[in-house]
Amino acid sequence: MRAVTFSRFAGPEVLEVSDLPVPQPGPGEVRIRVAAATVNPTDIMYRGGRQTAVQLAELGVHPPYIPGMELAGVVDAVGEGVSWRTGDRVMAIVNPRRPLGGAQAELVVVPAASVARVPDGVSLEAAATLPMNGLTVRLALDQLALERGQTLSVTGAAGAVGGYAVELGVSEGLRVIAVARPQDEALVRRFGAETFVPSGDTALRRVYDAAPGGVDGLIDAAVLDAAALPAIRDGGKLATVRGFAGPSERGITIAPVWVSSYVHNGLALDRLGRLVAEGRLSLRVSETFPPERVADAQQKMAAGGTRGRLLIAFP
Ligand SMILES: NC(=O)c1ccc[n+]([C@@H]2O[C@H](COP(=O)([O-])OP(=O)(O)OC[C@H]3O[C@@H](n4cnc5c(N)ncnc54)[C@H](OP(=O)(O)O)[C@@H]3O)[C@@H](O)[C@H]2O)c1
Repeated sequence: MRAVTFSRFAGPEVLEVSDLPVPQPGPGEVRIRVAAATVNPTDIMYRGGRQTAVQLAELGVHPPYIPGMELAGVVDAVGEGVSWRTGDRVMAIVNPRRPLGGAQAELVVVPAASVARVPDGVSLEAAATLPMNGLTVRLALDQLALERGQTLSVTGAAGAVGGYAVELGVSEGLRVIAVARPQDEALVRRFGAETFVPSGDTALRRVYDAAPGGVDGLIDAAVLDAAALPAIRDGGKLATVRGFAGPSERGITIAPVWVSSYVHNGLALDRLGRLVAEGRLSLRVSETFPPERVADAQQKMAAGGTRGRLLIAFP
Protein backbone atom coordinates (compact mmCIF):
# COMPACT_ATOMS: atom_id res chain seq x y z
CA MET A 1 0.00 0.00 0.00
CA ARG A 2 1.14 3.54 -0.70
CA ALA A 3 1.96 5.95 2.09
CA VAL A 4 3.51 9.39 2.46
CA THR A 5 6.82 8.86 4.26
CA PHE A 6 10.05 10.53 5.29
CA SER A 7 13.14 8.95 6.79
CA ARG A 8 15.16 11.94 7.99
CA PHE A 9 14.31 15.30 9.48
CA ALA A 10 14.81 18.17 7.03
CA GLY A 11 12.85 20.26 4.49
CA PRO A 12 9.83 19.13 2.45
CA GLU A 13 12.20 17.54 -0.11
CA VAL A 14 12.51 14.50 2.20
CA LEU A 15 8.83 13.63 1.71
CA GLU A 16 8.16 10.74 -0.64
CA VAL A 17 5.60 8.07 -1.44
CA SER A 18 6.60 4.56 -0.37
CA ASP A 19 5.09 1.14 -0.92
CA LEU A 20 4.67 -0.44 2.52
CA PRO A 21 3.20 -3.74 3.79
CA VAL A 22 -0.57 -3.77 4.31
CA PRO A 23 -1.24 -3.33 8.07
CA GLN A 24 -3.49 -5.96 9.69
CA PRO A 25 -6.08 -5.01 12.33
CA GLY A 26 -5.66 -6.76 15.69
CA PRO A 27 -8.37 -7.21 18.36
CA GLY A 28 -10.25 -3.96 18.93
CA GLU A 29 -8.81 -2.40 15.77
CA VAL A 30 -10.22 -1.25 12.46
CA ARG A 31 -8.52 -0.95 9.09
CA ILE A 32 -9.69 2.04 7.05
CA ARG A 33 -9.27 2.50 3.31
CA VAL A 34 -8.42 6.19 3.38
CA ALA A 35 -10.18 8.59 1.02
CA ALA A 36 -8.45 11.68 2.38
CA ALA A 37 -6.08 12.72 5.15
CA THR A 38 -5.40 16.34 6.08
CA VAL A 39 -2.16 18.31 6.18
CA ASN A 40 -1.66 20.16 9.48
CA PRO A 41 1.04 22.32 11.11
CA THR A 42 2.01 19.30 13.23
CA ASP A 43 3.08 17.38 10.07
CA ILE A 44 5.57 20.13 9.33
CA MET A 45 6.98 20.00 12.86
CA TYR A 46 7.20 16.19 12.72
CA ARG A 47 9.10 16.24 9.42
CA GLY A 48 11.28 19.11 10.67
CA GLY A 49 12.54 17.07 13.63
CA ARG A 50 10.51 18.19 16.64
CA GLN A 51 11.45 14.82 18.14
CA THR A 52 14.77 13.15 17.45
CA ALA A 53 15.07 9.67 15.93
CA VAL A 54 16.23 8.44 19.34
CA GLN A 55 13.17 9.86 21.11
CA LEU A 56 10.89 8.29 18.51
CA ALA A 57 12.70 4.94 18.72
CA GLU A 58 11.96 4.92 22.46
CA LEU A 59 8.26 4.99 21.48
CA GLY A 60 8.83 2.10 19.06
CA VAL A 61 8.60 4.48 16.08
CA HIS A 62 11.18 3.86 13.35
CA PRO A 63 11.65 5.22 9.82
CA PRO A 64 10.08 5.43 7.38
CA TYR A 65 7.80 7.79 9.35
CA ILE A 66 4.21 8.32 8.13
CA PRO A 67 2.78 11.80 8.95
CA GLY A 68 -0.86 12.78 9.34
CA MET A 69 -3.24 12.99 12.30
CA GLU A 70 -6.72 12.68 10.83
CA LEU A 71 -8.47 10.90 8.02
CA ALA A 72 -11.76 9.70 6.63
CA GLY A 73 -12.53 6.65 4.55
CA VAL A 74 -14.33 3.34 4.51
CA VAL A 75 -13.86 0.44 6.92
CA ASP A 76 -11.91 -2.19 5.03
CA ALA A 77 -11.31 -4.89 7.69
CA VAL A 78 -12.00 -5.30 11.40
CA GLY A 79 -10.30 -7.13 14.24
CA GLU A 80 -11.99 -9.23 16.90
CA GLY A 81 -14.55 -7.55 19.14
CA VAL A 82 -15.22 -4.57 16.88
CA SER A 83 -18.75 -3.45 16.03
CA TRP A 84 -17.79 -1.47 12.91
CA ARG A 85 -18.60 -3.22 9.62
CA THR A 86 -16.77 -3.36 6.33
CA GLY A 87 -18.05 -0.51 4.17
CA ASP A 88 -18.93 1.86 7.04
CA ARG A 89 -18.04 5.50 6.28
CA VAL A 90 -15.83 6.68 9.12
CA MET A 91 -13.41 9.36 10.27
CA ALA A 92 -10.55 8.87 12.71
CA ILE A 93 -7.83 10.61 14.68
CA VAL A 94 -4.36 9.06 14.66
CA ASN A 95 -1.23 9.84 16.63
CA PRO A 96 1.49 9.40 13.97
CA ARG A 97 4.12 8.89 16.65
CA ARG A 98 3.23 5.21 17.04
CA PRO A 99 4.73 2.11 15.44
CA LEU A 100 1.98 1.94 12.77
CA GLY A 101 2.51 5.58 11.76
CA GLY A 102 0.04 8.30 10.83
CA ALA A 103 -2.94 9.02 8.61
CA GLN A 104 -1.41 9.75 5.20
CA ALA A 105 -1.57 6.22 3.81
CA GLU A 106 -3.91 4.18 1.65
CA LEU A 107 -4.73 1.80 4.50
CA VAL A 108 -4.54 2.80 8.16
CA VAL A 109 -5.20 0.64 11.22
CA VAL A 110 -6.53 2.44 14.30
CA PRO A 111 -8.20 1.42 17.57
CA ALA A 112 -12.00 1.31 17.18
CA ALA A 113 -12.11 3.94 19.97
CA SER A 114 -10.50 6.49 17.64
CA VAL A 115 -13.25 6.16 15.02
CA ALA A 116 -16.63 7.83 14.49
CA ARG A 117 -19.31 7.63 11.84
CA VAL A 118 -19.32 10.18 9.02
CA PRO A 119 -22.82 11.70 8.95
CA ASP A 120 -24.94 11.08 5.85
CA GLY A 121 -24.55 13.83 3.29
CA VAL A 122 -21.04 14.76 4.45
CA SER A 123 -18.26 13.88 2.00
CA LEU A 124 -15.31 11.84 3.22
CA GLU A 125 -13.02 14.67 2.10
CA ALA A 126 -14.83 17.19 4.30
CA ALA A 127 -15.07 14.72 7.18
CA ALA A 128 -11.29 14.23 7.18
CA THR A 129 -10.92 17.83 8.42
CA LEU A 130 -12.83 17.24 11.65
CA PRO A 131 -11.20 14.69 13.98
CA MET A 132 -7.90 16.26 15.05
CA ASN A 133 -8.76 19.95 15.11
CA GLY A 134 -12.33 19.34 16.31
CA LEU A 135 -11.11 17.23 19.23
CA THR A 136 -8.43 19.82 20.01
CA VAL A 137 -11.17 22.39 20.50
CA ARG A 138 -13.34 19.92 22.43
CA LEU A 139 -10.42 19.35 24.81
CA ALA A 140 -9.69 23.09 25.08
CA LEU A 141 -13.31 23.83 25.96
CA ASP A 142 -13.40 20.94 28.43
CA GLN A 143 -10.31 22.38 30.12
CA LEU A 144 -11.71 25.92 30.19
CA ALA A 145 -15.03 24.61 31.61
CA LEU A 146 -16.89 27.88 30.93
CA GLU A 147 -20.58 28.31 31.64
CA ARG A 148 -23.30 29.52 29.27
CA GLY A 149 -23.23 33.28 28.93
CA GLN A 150 -19.54 33.58 29.77
CA THR A 151 -17.11 35.17 27.31
CA LEU A 152 -14.65 33.22 25.19
CA SER A 153 -12.04 34.87 23.00
CA VAL A 154 -10.44 32.96 20.14
CA THR A 155 -7.23 34.07 18.41
CA GLY A 156 -6.46 32.75 14.92
CA ALA A 157 -10.25 32.48 14.58
CA ALA A 158 -10.19 31.93 10.80
CA GLY A 159 -7.95 28.86 11.02
CA ALA A 160 -8.92 25.23 11.52
CA VAL A 161 -8.68 25.24 15.32
CA GLY A 162 -9.97 28.81 15.56
CA GLY A 163 -13.00 28.26 13.35
CA TYR A 164 -14.13 25.22 15.32
CA ALA A 165 -13.47 27.10 18.57
CA VAL A 166 -15.79 29.93 17.53
CA GLU A 167 -18.55 27.59 16.34
CA LEU A 168 -18.36 25.18 19.27
CA GLY A 169 -18.17 28.05 21.72
CA VAL A 170 -21.29 29.59 20.19
CA SER A 171 -23.09 26.23 20.20
CA GLU A 172 -22.38 25.99 23.95
CA GLY A 173 -23.92 29.37 24.67
CA LEU A 174 -20.67 31.30 25.06
CA ARG A 175 -20.31 34.89 23.87
CA VAL A 176 -17.42 34.71 21.44
CA ILE A 177 -14.97 37.51 20.71
CA ALA A 178 -12.97 36.47 17.65
CA VAL A 179 -9.52 37.79 16.75
CA ALA A 180 -8.45 37.26 13.15
CA ARG A 181 -6.87 39.03 10.19
CA PRO A 182 -9.01 42.00 9.04
CA GLN A 183 -9.87 40.21 5.77
CA ASP A 184 -11.39 37.31 7.76
CA GLU A 185 -14.11 39.34 9.46
CA ALA A 186 -17.01 38.10 7.32
CA LEU A 187 -15.88 34.49 7.73
CA VAL A 188 -15.64 34.51 11.52
CA ARG A 189 -18.88 36.43 11.85
CA ARG A 190 -20.52 33.65 9.81
CA PHE A 191 -19.18 31.24 12.45
CA GLY A 192 -21.27 33.17 14.96
CA ALA A 193 -18.74 35.43 16.67
CA GLU A 194 -20.56 38.20 18.51
CA THR A 195 -17.59 40.58 18.34
CA PHE A 196 -14.78 40.78 15.80
CA VAL A 197 -11.38 42.26 16.63
CA PRO A 198 -8.77 42.59 13.85
CA SER A 199 -5.43 41.06 14.82
CA GLY A 200 -2.52 43.42 15.46
CA ASP A 201 -0.70 45.23 18.23
CA THR A 202 -3.79 46.54 20.01
CA ALA A 203 -5.99 43.47 19.51
CA LEU A 204 -5.70 41.96 22.97
CA ARG A 205 -6.40 45.31 24.67
CA ARG A 206 -9.50 45.61 22.48
CA VAL A 207 -10.63 42.14 23.53
CA TYR A 208 -10.18 43.13 27.19
CA ASP A 209 -12.27 46.25 26.64
CA ALA A 210 -14.95 44.38 24.66
CA ALA A 211 -15.54 41.91 27.51
CA PRO A 212 -15.22 44.37 29.59
CA GLY A 213 -12.64 43.73 32.29
CA GLY A 214 -11.33 40.79 30.32
CA VAL A 215 -12.73 37.57 28.91
CA ASP A 216 -13.46 34.53 31.06
CA GLY A 217 -11.50 32.21 28.77
CA LEU A 218 -9.32 32.37 25.65
CA ILE A 219 -8.34 29.69 23.13
CA ASP A 220 -5.09 30.85 21.58
CA ALA A 221 -4.95 29.24 18.12
CA ALA A 222 -2.62 32.00 16.85
CA VAL A 223 -0.02 30.92 19.45
CA LEU A 224 0.40 34.35 21.01
CA ASP A 225 1.11 32.61 24.35
CA ALA A 226 2.06 35.16 27.07
CA ALA A 227 0.93 38.02 24.82
CA ALA A 228 -2.65 36.70 25.07
CA LEU A 229 -2.80 37.09 28.87
CA PRO A 230 -3.76 40.81 28.90
CA ALA A 231 -7.11 39.97 27.23
CA ILE A 232 -8.17 37.71 30.12
CA ARG A 233 -9.87 38.75 33.35
CA ASP A 234 -8.26 38.20 36.75
CA GLY A 235 -8.71 34.51 37.58
CA GLY A 236 -9.71 33.63 33.99
CA LYS A 237 -8.36 30.78 31.85
CA LEU A 238 -6.07 30.46 28.83
CA ALA A 239 -5.91 27.34 26.60
CA THR A 240 -2.60 27.14 24.71
CA VAL A 241 -1.83 24.88 21.76
CA ARG A 242 1.96 24.70 21.59
CA GLY A 243 2.82 23.87 25.18
CA PHE A 244 3.04 27.36 26.73
CA ALA A 245 2.39 26.82 30.45
CA GLY A 246 3.43 30.12 32.02
CA PRO A 247 4.48 32.12 33.84
CA SER A 248 0.97 33.43 34.37
CA GLU A 249 -0.33 36.61 36.02
CA ARG A 250 -3.38 37.82 38.00
CA GLY A 251 -4.44 34.29 38.93
CA ILE A 252 -5.08 33.23 35.32
CA THR A 253 -5.02 29.44 34.85
CA ILE A 254 -3.03 28.31 31.81
CA ALA A 255 -4.10 24.98 30.30
CA PRO A 256 -1.79 23.54 27.63
CA VAL A 257 -3.91 21.45 25.24
CA TRP A 258 -2.52 18.22 23.80
CA VAL A 259 -5.02 16.48 21.54
CA SER A 260 -3.04 13.23 21.86
CA SER A 261 -4.91 12.76 25.16
CA TYR A 262 -8.21 12.62 23.21
CA VAL A 263 -6.96 10.24 20.53
CA HIS A 264 -9.26 7.48 21.85
CA ASN A 265 -12.26 9.75 22.43
CA GLY A 266 -14.44 8.43 19.61
CA LEU A 267 -17.56 9.39 21.57
CA ALA A 268 -16.57 13.06 21.54
CA LEU A 269 -15.76 12.76 17.84
CA ASP A 270 -19.19 11.26 17.22
CA ARG A 271 -20.81 14.22 18.99
CA LEU A 272 -18.80 16.61 16.80
CA GLY A 273 -20.07 14.73 13.74
CA ARG A 274 -23.65 15.26 14.94
CA LEU A 275 -23.02 19.00 15.23
CA VAL A 276 -21.84 18.96 11.60
CA ALA A 277 -25.04 17.15 10.60
CA GLU A 278 -27.06 19.82 12.46
CA GLY A 279 -25.23 22.58 10.58
CA ARG A 280 -23.59 23.95 13.73
CA LEU A 281 -20.03 23.08 12.75
CA SER A 282 -18.58 23.95 9.31
CA LEU A 283 -16.10 21.72 7.51
CA ARG A 284 -13.75 23.53 5.14
CA VAL A 285 -11.57 22.02 2.42
CA SER A 286 -9.22 24.35 0.58
CA GLU A 287 -7.44 22.11 -1.90
CA THR A 288 -6.73 18.44 -2.57
CA PHE A 289 -3.33 17.02 -3.52
CA PRO A 290 -2.25 13.55 -4.65
CA PRO A 291 0.26 11.93 -2.24
CA GLU A 292 3.10 12.62 -4.68
CA ARG A 293 2.52 16.36 -4.14
CA VAL A 294 2.59 16.30 -0.34
CA ALA A 295 5.66 18.58 -0.32
CA ASP A 296 3.68 21.25 -2.21
CA ALA A 297 0.84 20.90 0.28
CA GLN A 298 3.15 21.29 3.28
CA GLN A 299 4.83 24.32 1.71
CA LYS A 300 1.47 25.91 1.05
CA MET A 301 0.39 25.28 4.65
CA ALA A 302 3.67 26.71 5.99
CA ALA A 303 3.30 29.88 3.91
CA GLY A 304 0.15 30.81 5.89
CA GLY A 305 -3.01 32.41 4.58
CA THR A 306 -4.75 29.12 3.76
CA ARG A 307 -8.40 29.10 4.78
CA GLY A 308 -9.80 25.59 4.85
CA ARG A 309 -7.68 22.48 5.16
CA LEU A 310 -5.35 20.98 2.56
CA LEU A 311 -5.99 17.31 1.85
CA ILE A 312 -3.97 14.37 0.61
CA ALA A 313 -6.40 12.19 -1.35
CA PHE A 314 -5.97 8.47 -2.01
CA PRO A 315 -8.30 7.77 -4.94
N1 LIG B 1 -1.56 21.04 20.93
C1 LIG B 1 -2.38 20.40 20.13
O1 LIG B 1 -2.85 19.32 20.45
C2 LIG B 1 -2.74 21.04 18.80
C3 LIG B 1 -3.70 20.45 17.99
C4 LIG B 1 -4.06 21.10 16.80
C5 LIG B 1 -3.40 22.26 16.43
N2 LIG B 1 -2.43 22.76 17.24
C6 LIG B 1 -1.75 24.02 16.90
O2 LIG B 1 -2.74 25.02 16.81
C7 LIG B 1 -2.27 26.06 15.97
C8 LIG B 1 -3.36 26.44 14.97
O3 LIG B 1 -3.52 25.36 14.09
P1 LIG B 1 -4.47 25.51 12.83
O4 LIG B 1 -4.44 24.22 12.15
O5 LIG B 1 -5.75 26.13 13.22
O6 LIG B 1 -3.63 26.57 11.97
P2 LIG B 1 -4.21 27.51 10.81
O7 LIG B 1 -5.38 26.86 10.16
O8 LIG B 1 -3.04 27.91 10.01
O9 LIG B 1 -4.78 28.75 11.62
C9 LIG B 1 -3.98 29.64 12.33
C10 LIG B 1 -4.63 31.01 12.17
O10 LIG B 1 -3.97 31.93 13.01
C11 LIG B 1 -3.58 33.08 12.24
N3 LIG B 1 -2.36 33.58 12.84
C12 LIG B 1 -1.21 32.94 13.01
N4 LIG B 1 -0.30 33.71 13.63
C13 LIG B 1 -0.92 34.90 13.87
C14 LIG B 1 -0.53 36.11 14.50
N5 LIG B 1 0.68 36.26 15.01
N6 LIG B 1 -1.45 37.10 14.56
C15 LIG B 1 -2.68 36.94 14.05
N7 LIG B 1 -3.11 35.81 13.45
C16 LIG B 1 -2.24 34.81 13.36
C17 LIG B 1 -3.39 32.53 10.85
O11 LIG B 1 -3.49 33.55 9.88
P3 LIG B 1 -2.60 33.45 8.54
O12 LIG B 1 -2.93 32.16 7.89
O13 LIG B 1 -3.03 34.64 7.77
O14 LIG B 1 -1.18 33.51 9.01
C18 LIG B 1 -4.53 31.53 10.76
O15 LIG B 1 -5.75 32.15 10.42
C19 LIG B 1 -0.99 25.53 15.31
O16 LIG B 1 0.12 26.08 15.98
C20 LIG B 1 -1.06 24.03 15.57
O17 LIG B 1 0.21 23.44 15.61
C21 LIG B 1 -2.10 22.17 18.41
